[in-house]
Formats: sequence, structure tokens, C-alpha cells
Amino acid sequence: MQQLGKASSANIETWLETINTYNSTPEFGTTRVLFTEPEVGARNYVKGEMKKLGMTIHEDAIGNIFGVYPGTDATLPPVWTGSHIDTVLNAGMFDGMSGVVAGLEAVRLIREAGISLRRSLVVVVYTSEEPTRFKLGCLGSRALAGKLDAAEAATLHDAAGTSLYEVLEQLGFPVQDFDLVKRTPGDVFAAVELHIDQTGVLERAGKTVGIVKTICAPTVLEVEVVGRQSHAGGTSMEERRDAYMAACELALVLENLGRHSDSEYTTVTVGKVDVIPNAVNVIPGKVVFSVDIRDCDYDKKNELVVKFRQAVSKVESERGVGVTIKMVNNDHPMGCSPKITQLIEKNCCQQDVPYMYTISGAFHDSMLVGDFAPVAMIFVPSHDGISHSPQEWTDFDDLAAGTDVLTGTLVALANA
Ligand code: GLV
Ligand code: MN
Ligand code: MN
Repeated sequence: MQQLGKASSANIETWLETINTYNSTPEFGTTRVLFTEPEVGARNYVKGEMKKLGMTIHEDAIGNIFGVYPGTDATLPPVWTGSHIDTVLNAGMFDGMSGVVAGLEAVRLIREAGISLRRSLVVVVYTSEEPTRFKLGCLGSRALAGKLDAAEAATLHDAAGTSLYEVLEQLGFPVQDFDLVKRTPGDVFAAVELHIDQTGVLERAGKTVGIVKTICAPTVLEVEVVGRQSHAGGTSMEERRDAYMAACELALVLENLGRHSDSEYTTVTVGKVDVIPNAVNVIPGKVVFSVDIRDCDYDKKNELVVKFRQAVSKVESERGVGVTIKMVNNDHPMGCSPKITQLIEKNCCQQDVPYMYTISGAFHDSMLVGDFAPVAMIFVPSHDGISHSPQEWTDFDDLAAGTDVLTGTLVALANA
């Protein structure tokens, strides 16, 4: 077998920098929201790069992109790698894109070494891992897992009131084939995603690669608090039914539950708050806020939600407000395949790459792909663990080292 060359940090940098030019907020970080002009531009750029690498391109009804580097036996289930290219608002240039670019570089290395693969290697760009536009994350991988169908796509609306289904239809995706998006066990042999770490754990430990054991999963709630809108000066402290203060109390209750969780890893976040009417001298009559709870233990996560609901009842009666809770999603944590993680470990050892096992506090498309295929993730360090921020940074040399480990792993899987 031909020897694989080394991943080029310059290639990785060029691809990442170019994807980063597709950006609706160049003045502050990177914003690339699903199916906006920059996001469609980045999709087209990535598809063009895939073609240059000899890959054939398919897209499904929800817009997942599959770049196929063919194996010698088309009857065998393929190996997947990849991630996402959409971002949160004012993000960095690595979250998601690194995994796609690492997949491209892996294909380049395999092609240049003249290595033939038995199984096809597919670089996947999953549609909208971030919940930025439709509030729900992992849209593409969720549909692949059979957890988002056409009817549900019609119920997801963006801020302008347009449904995901309508957007897909307008953009010419084959929505009539939505049923064909779903994959079942056996369709995919293995899926390995490279991603930035998003905690400081690798950097602090001085490790270049993190091998993920478990991917924590989110529960997302939309909480609506209805009080009574009235005059800030005219309404005494006893009379008011302030929706915002009630929401604040609930946020602090939630923080307390998160801090005192006895799970291995729990986070709670209130990241989006809409205050109505949002004026200096008006007591807010309504507040809608998001709750994002992460845990690697599904049962513990549900226990926390129960405790939060109990606190809601208490705040309702004490403050004279009405609270409704809509569960947006309640996902299952995903364990990575020990067979693949051992293979990643073997590659780290062979390549002399310092590694450690870790868990992912962030969710990823692999969390849902794991429903129908064995999955694993390779993390590379983030500076100061900062992500979802313009300050997000990963060294290109670390990305190249992670890509070498990914490539070795993919070759082994594709020839298994
Ligand atoms: C994904 O970006 C997440 O919020 O974990
Ligand atoms: Mn992200
Ligand atoms: Mn991501």
C-alpha cells in the first residue's frame, strides 16, 4: 500500500479562510445562517472543492451534501466523515468547518497516495447543526436519523414565519423525496467527525487530540412568562406582576440546579430572552426565554427538568404570573463506538500524537448519526476553550495533526 502523506496546514488554512469569506457579519466574527446568501455561497464553494478532488456530489431533500470518493466495492456500506458549515451569530471560523475541511484534506491525501479504498468515503456537510435559524439544531442529521420528517419540517418556522419545508421547496430541494432522507442501521459502516474541542481541556492537558467517549445532549425549552404590563412608576412593588423578574428568578433557579447537579457533566444556559414590550418605563407583561440544558446522562437531565418545572409552579403562585413551557427537543446523549475510538487511539500512537479521552459538552451531528451508525469524534484544541465567539481559535498545525489521525482512521475503516 502507498504511504499517506502528511496533512497540509496551509491547505486547511486556505479552505477555512475561504469558507470564512462567506460571512454576513465580517465586522464582528462570522455569521453564516442556514440558507442565507453566505451559507448557500459556502455550500457551493465546498461542492466545487469536492469536485476538484474527484468526488461526486449528492444532496438530499433537507440539503445534506454528500461528496462521495468511490471505493472499489459499491455494494459495501460507506464510511462517512464531515460536519457542518453553518454558524451561530457572530461565531468563529472553526466550529463545524474544521470537520468538513479535514474530510477534504483526508480525501486529497488518500488520492495523492494512490490508496484504493474498498468502501466509499463520503464527506458529509450536514444541514444546520446550529439551531440559529429554526431554533432546533442538527436538522440534517436529525432527518437522517428519522427524527425529523416532512410534516415536522413544515412546523419549524424562522423569525420571519417561513417554514423549513417552504425554504427547502423554494430552493429547489426535492422535498417530495423527504422520506428517502432517513438512514437505517447497516446503511453506513462508520462515521467519524473531527471537531474543535470547545472547552479548554485539551489545551490545559497539552494534548493535540481528544478522543470523545460520550457526546452530551441538549434539552431545549422555550419558556413563556405572562405577567401584567403596567406603568413602571404607577404600579407599586406589591401590585406588580412583572414577567421579567419572574423570568430572572427562574433563570437563577435553573443556574442553581445546574451548579448542584450530581451528574458527571451538566450545563444550563439561558441564551435568548425576548422582553415585551422592552421599554424603560414599562413593567414587562411578557417574557419568552430559551433554556438549554446539557448532560451526558439522559435520566439526570430529565430529573433536572422536573425540578425546574416544580420551581416554575412556585414562581407562578408567588408572583401571579402564568408560565408555559414548550419542549423544543430532548435529545439522547450518544456513546462513541469503542471499536472506532480504539482505532483512533492506535493512529495517535502510530503517529506519535499526544491524545486523551474526553467527553463533549457540545452537541454534534454525530449525536444523531449514532442512531444508525457507529460513530466517533476526534477533537483538536481550542485556545482558552473559547467557541461560539469571534475569539474562537485553533492552530492550523493542530488541525493538520488531527486530520492525519482522522485520515489513518478513515483508511482503516474503509478497508475493513
Ligand atoms: C452546538 O453548537 C452546540 O450548541 O453544542
Ligand atoms: Mn456550534
Ligand atoms: Mn459544531
